[in-house]
This record gives sequence, structure tokens and C-alpha cells, in this order.
Amino acid sequence: MHIGILTGGGDCPGLNAVIRAVTLSLINETGARVTGIERGFLGLLTDGHRPLDTAAVAGILAEGGTILGTHNKCDPFHYFGAGGADVSAQAMDCVRRLGIDALVVIGGDGTMAIAHKFQALGLPVVGVPKTIDNDLVCTDRTFGFDSAVAIVAEALDRLATTARSHGRVMIAETMGRYAGWIALEGGMAGGADVILLPEVPFSVEAVAAHCRAREQRGQPTLVCIAEGAKPQGGALTVQRTIADSPDPLRLGGVGQWLQQQLEPLLASEVRTTLLGHVQRGGAPTAFDRILATRFGYHAAQLVKGGQFGRMVALQGDVCTSVPLDQVAGRCRNVPPDDLLVLAARGIGVALGDG
Ligand code: F6P
Repeated sequence: MHIGILTGGGDCPGLNAVIRAVTLSLINETGARVTGIERGFLGLLTDGHRPLDTAAVAGILAEGGTILGTHNKCDPFHYFGAGGADVSAQAMDCVRRLGIDALVVIGGDGTMAIAHKFQALGLPVVGVPKTIDNDLVCTDRTFGFDSAVAIVAEALDRLATTARSHGRVMIAETMGRYAGWIALEGGMAGGADVILLPEVPFSVEAVAAHCRAREQRGQPTLVCIAEGAKPQGGALTVQRTIADSPDPLRLGGVGQWLQQQLEPLLASEVRTTLLGHVQRGGAPTAFDRILATRFGYHAAQLVKGGQFGRMVALQGDVCTSVPLDQVAGRCRNVPPDDLLVLAARGIGVALGDG
């Protein structure tokens, strides 16, 4: 057997841990030959690949990013390098030339959608769910999310000391795209007083009222806002548009916008920190190293068992798999009755909805 592995979309802590686990499991349990495809699907169009063996994956478990490189614009079915043309046949030629029997694709919803199309073309595929956003359907967790939450929590711990020392309102803006998981879990872990999520449109007046009540008690306020949060009746704050990207909108800036709205309404000074790509960088947490290793091992078991067209998933504490077509192009949002949302409300965290 000859198996290809690629990492698609944005980088994320734990990618290397998956590459390592897939490679070692396949070599040890099936004797397969393993090839790493470089820069996501782009490697299939540019002949970018390298052999992966035990030496190639040694020492990468705790390394951030991906040793294979990645690309968040390359969809061979709408290739940015060819004016949006379908060049998937060229990618399939590369697969045939390399003699690859199946592909393990590590990525988020966009990458899973592309993987599903290759499966339909006859290339056997297994998907592994990656994203700091934790927004893939059919899996309770994606690897990378725990690491991002830990970074947000640490940032809030640090911002809290300035908030207390200066009696300020400190706003931290997290990533997460259209889902509020990072802001919710990071905000709760970091003791935020206000958590604003894409799923709960907020009222500036309600946030200001909460801050004022705290001012009157002599308390500073720590606000954790998701980049996809929007005011009631308002729109998303878009930082830039990348025309040839499968998901062209890049969110960001709503924290700064909120600061401008709050300043005239409060006695305290307001400051904003945009956490940005810091949330995606560096070493994975121990939890993510374990999850990524479990996912990688499970992906190898699917390959070994000939179970293709599926994505590895965590349901409860069980590693299982689901058909790729159930995942492709869908987003898992925070439900209003999520237990952590209820706990947040229960302990007096304001969600900005009144
Ligand atoms: O999907 C992961 C993510 O980090 C999102 O949270 C964020 O909106 C986006 O990617 C940023 O993308 P880029 O790296 O292209 O700026």
C-alpha cells in the first residue's frame, strides 16, 4: 500500500502529531509506504511531495504548524492559479503517477469538502478533523481547539491584572469564524465578565450597563468577544476579503469597534487586544497531542480496514468515523442551551443580550 498524507487550510497545533501517528501506525501495522504531499492540495498540482518514514516524523509531536506546509486557497476544483478552473484531473494524474492508493486528508470543513469530491472521483480518502474553531459537525472536538482555548485563557489572565490595576475595561478578541466555541471556552477558563458570541447578537447598551454596574462596585471588566460576534441588527466586522479563497471573508476588528461604542458610555478607559494568529501558533497542549495521536491512529485503522470516504470523529470519549458527505461545508455553532452557556449565565457572565 502507498498512502499520501496532506494538511489543508490554516495551520493548527497538533497537525504534526497527526502526521506522526498516521505515518507510524501505517508503517508499523501494515508496512505501507507513506508520502507527504506538500502545501495541501497544491502539492498535487506542483509535484510537491516527500517520503515520510520513522526518521522523518521523529521529534515532531510537540512542534506547532505542519512539517508538510499547508495552503488555505488551493481547491483543485476551483483553482486560484487557473482563474477558478477545475484542474482536479491534473491532481488525479499526480496521484496515479506517484502510485498513491489512498489519501489521508487533515483539515477543516473546506478541506473535507474537497476531500469528498476527490473520493467521488475514485480516490479513496480518509479525513481527520482539524481546526482551532471546533466548528466541524459530527465530532465533539477537533484537535487544535484545546490549545487555542489555553492561549485565550492565559491572555485573559494577563489582561485581568491590567484591568484590576487600572480599573479598566479590557477587551480580548478571539478567532473562531462564525462559531463562538473559542470565545466561550476561553472566556470561561479566563474568568471573563462578558462573553460575546456570534450565536448571541449583542446590545451595546446591555454590555455598557453591565460594565457600569461593575464600575459602581469598583470592579474592572474583562470582555471576551469572538471575531464573528455582531451587534443586534448589525453586520459582521470583516477585516479583509481574499477573492480567490474558498471562504473569502477574513473576520476581525469587532473588539475595536466595541471599544469605540463603549468609551462614550463609560467612566473607565477601554483597551482592546486582538489575539489573532497567536491562538494558532506554537506547541499543542497535552490534550491536543493525545487527541491528534488518537485521530491519526484511527485514520490508519480506517485505511487498513478499507473504510474510505469517512472522517474520523470524537463522540463522547469514543473515536469513531462519519461519512465525509455529512461533514462537508457545514458549520457547528454553539447552541443557545449549551451547558457552558447556561453555566455562564448562571454565574452572572453577561452575554450581551439584555
Ligand atoms: O479557521 C481557523 C481560523 O484561524 C479562523 O479562526 C480565522 O477566522 C481564520 O482561520 C483566519 O484565517 P487566515 O489565517 O487566512 O487569516
